[in-house]
Amino acid sequence: MPRAPPPFERARGRQTRRRPVEHKGGKDGGTLGEAQCELVGNQRHQLLAVRADDSARYLGGRRGRPKTAVLRSGMRAPLPGVLAAQVWRAARGQARFMIAAPWQRVSRVRAAIVGPGGIGRIHAEAIRRAGAQIHAVVARTDAGARTAREQFGAERGTTDLSAVLSDPDVDVVHVCTPNALHFPMARAVLSAGKHIILEKPLTLTVAEGRELLRLAETSGRIHAVGFNNRFYPLVQEVRERVRRGDLGDVISVRAAVLEDGLLHADDWNWRLDPQIGGPSVALSTIGCHLIDLVTFMVGDAISEVCADLRTVHPRRIGPDGRRAVEVDGQEVAHLLVRFRQGCRGALAMSQASAGRRYEYSVEVDGTQQALTWAAPDCNELWVGTRGSPNQIVVRDPALITEGARDYLTYGPAFREGFGETFLQFIAHV
Ligand SMILES: NC(=O)c1ccc[n+]([C@@H]2O[C@H](COP(=O)([O-])OP(=O)(O)OC[C@H]3O[C@@H](n4cnc5c(N)ncnc54)[C@H](O)[C@@H]3O)[C@@H](O)[C@H]2O)c1
Repeated sequence: MPRAPPPFERARGRQTRRRPVEHKGGKDGGTLGEAQCELVGNQRHQLLAVRADDSARYLGGRRGRPKTAVLRSGMRAPLPGVLAAQVWRAARGQARFMIAAPWQRVSRVRAAIVGPGGIGRIHAEAIRRAGAQIHAVVARTDAGARTAREQFGAERGTTDLSAVLSDPDVDVVHVCTPNALHFPMARAVLSAGKHIILEKPLTLTVAEGRELLRLAETSGRIHAVGFNNRFYPLVQEVRERVRRGDLGDVISVRAAVLEDGLLHADDWNWRLDPQIGGPSVALSTIGCHLIDLVTFMVGDAISEVCADLRTVHPRRIGPDGRRAVEVDGQEVAHLLVRFRQGCRGALAMSQASAGRRYEYSVEVDGTQQALTWAAPDCNELWVGTRGSPNQIVVRDPALITEGARDYLTYGPAFREGFGETFLQFIAHV
């Protein structure tokens, strides 16, 4: 069975080789033997993913090996302790991990963040967690650039994107600005030969989207759009199970994403301005996430759409907080869709659903099985079968498929409190 394609293109120069690794027994008195490790290298960043087979019990340090193991979480630890522990887990089918050889090469990736707002800060945290550097930040105003530079610990803060794009010290650019800026900025980034992660929605029009795709594909650079829902381990699990044929033929999908941020007539944000946010607020803000999620899970593209969109408040209190303005916001959308290979779908997206806080649910029905994944309870997957008891699969590396296991950086017991502990601690130093 071929493995699922990665959710975004990996670096060129990727190399995969199988290499025997000897292990010489562990502190636990583990047996001698040989572990077969798959090394997935990325020449540029020198990332190595190592997966041990079932015979691995302990991997000792070897001459010439890197001194530091870097887990995909960005955690570093001296070898061989962590490596041994991880190989032990991998051997029990519980982990896949990455090491950097050497670690310093990872930290040489230098990023620029354009648009240090809500999501820009999340990107900043992720860049640090990956061990890369935030070299530059581009903001709308000088004051914003100064503040963000300080907060992100960046070398430079500026309002001049072109200056950052001509800076040889920038490898990758994170475009986190409002929607209407995605196309011109991404085009400039790709033309400058930088790797790019662009926030969703891709662009405001199909023509712009096609143009960006063409540029990205000919650029030879790594390019991705911020469709983060793919990275829930159990979303990967749905993808793997559909791919593996567990469900049989996929018959239909019902999916929804609901929130209440635009429920009231005095709720306002830039997304309601079609010049900045695009023509439909529900589709550009949450709907594109849902469409990406279902097409990713089903592994097929949508070919036909019948859409019904509703503007709940044609008049809203506008950006000044006082004056009412006319809006054709389309805060609610219902889509009937057909996929290329015959699957049918009903998708609902609403930003006017009282009490809902970015709640996702996706139900996939197949001829053999059905699966339901939902968030915020994102760590459980319902598996429905006729003629035998239904199951709940939890986010545990021992229970999920190999491909989905790659997306479990944290162990099964990881909760928000772990990360928050250290964030709060550092904030008080
Ligand atoms: N993937 C996700 O789940 C997710 C979540 C939230 C937002 N987003 C996307 O991220 C983008 C930003 O959303 P947000 O919520 O962070 O918005 P935001 O308003 O909080 O932040 C936008 C930032 O861009 C800055 N900016 C505006 N014009 C600029 C310019 N010309 N040059 C540099 N900076 C400029 C603003 O000053 C602000 O700091 C949107 O496209 C949105 O759809 C994605």
